Amino acid sequence: MGVQGVNAQACALARAHKPEHFVLERVVRPNILALQPYRCARDDFQEGVLLDANENAMGPAMAPGSAYEELDLHRYPDPSLYEARERATKLRGLPHPAYTFLGVGSDEVIDLIQRCFARPGQDKILICPPTYGMYSVSANINDIDVVEVPLITENGAFQLDTPRVQAALRADPAIRVVFLCSPGNPTGTLLPLHDVQQVLDTPDYAGLVVVDEAYIDFAAEKQALKHGAEPVSAVSLVHEYANVIVAQTLSKSFGLAGVRLGLAFAQPPIVQVMNNTKAPYNISSPAAYLASQSLSDDGIARMRANVQALLHQRDRLQQALAKIPAAGAVLGGNDANFVLVQVLDRPGGVPDSQRAKHVYETMARHRGLVVRNRSSELGCAGCLRITIGTAQENDLCIALLTELLA
Ligand SMILES: Cc1ncc(COP(=O)(O)O)c(C=O)c1O
Repeated sequence: MGVQGVNAQACALARAHKPEHFVLERVVRPNILALQPYRCARDDFQEGVLLDANENAMGPAMAPGSAYEELDLHRYPDPSLYEARERATKLRGLPHPAYTFLGVGSDEVIDLIQRCFARPGQDKILICPPTYGMYSVSANINDIDVVEVPLITENGAFQLDTPRVQAALRADPAIRVVFLCSPGNPTGTLLPLHDVQQVLDTPDYAGLVVVDEAYIDFAAEKQALKHGAEPVSAVSLVHEYANVIVAQTLSKSFGLAGVRLGLAFAQPPIVQVMNNTKAPYNISSPAAYLASQSLSDDGIARMRANVQALLHQRDRLQQALAKIPAAGAVLGGNDANFVLVQVLDRPGGVPDSQRAKHVYETMARHRGLVVRNRSSELGCAGCLRITIGTAQENDLCIALLTELLA
């Protein structure tokens, strides 16, 4: 049985031929493959007198003149979310909206991938700590075991231990999904596409590889500044690989964390499995509208300008941290909108997790500035993760750290 509802024409536009041994139907959970997706009359008819969906003909219970009046909020959203999907697809250079899935933040994408491709109580995912916490939280919710292959953390490198990842995949056929985070959270470090490709090409690995690129625009911008830059996003691999899913979000570079809009880019059969499985109207009309505004030419230009401004602030913050004697190294590749900095036990000393916790708590409880204490994460002893703020916010952070680490 094949995946229901796949757009064959869209598939033909970029027919992924790698890896040779990969068969999607063997990875989709059997109940999901057999699923009859929910259908509504609106899938077929969007115009006319609409008495099909038990909506409220009197309109939304809101005072007239609301900013959202034109959005017909008394109607269910357009299930195809055409404009937002089309714009995201174009931005990332894919040939058809059938390569793009929209979710309620990438957190929904992360959860849905596990629900579609890993059987509860039987299958596993593989993660590379230190990494984003939601991969294992979703796995726990879905009763899926987690295999961990740590990143190489020496000297704050935070790179994939590719031979160990491949060995784990070959040793355990229950692993169905690998989650790689690039640039990583909390590592802030880009994974070279070459390493990602090696994982995708792992002989005999029948499952999927998810590359979570929540912070990719910060890395891509940095890369674009260098001459002769190589691509940094794994979206370029979607053209070739049938087993890759790239997750992105409008929460970071686009500054729309409140909208909750996540994306997944993959070959159309994978996107179709996810569309068949998601709740029918997961993306609200306001979210789809705001996403599509932000993905317009003007929105993209603003995103790029904001990214540049944040990268400039990140350099400033890093230079200021270097002048604080008891602040240690900024670890990792520094490819995202945060820095991961060590707190030392004394000027020029060693990373001190107790002191990092103390500084974190003092700043949050008594000085009104909240960063993230990551000192218990693998390879992050003594580390605080500081999101890049506005110039004033960063100045305040620098002043507080200078004082508390004196
Ligand atoms: C690596 C990574 N992936 C995904 C997310 C979640 O993003 P969203 O807001 O799209 O759910 C985050 C949020 O911090 C993140 O750091």
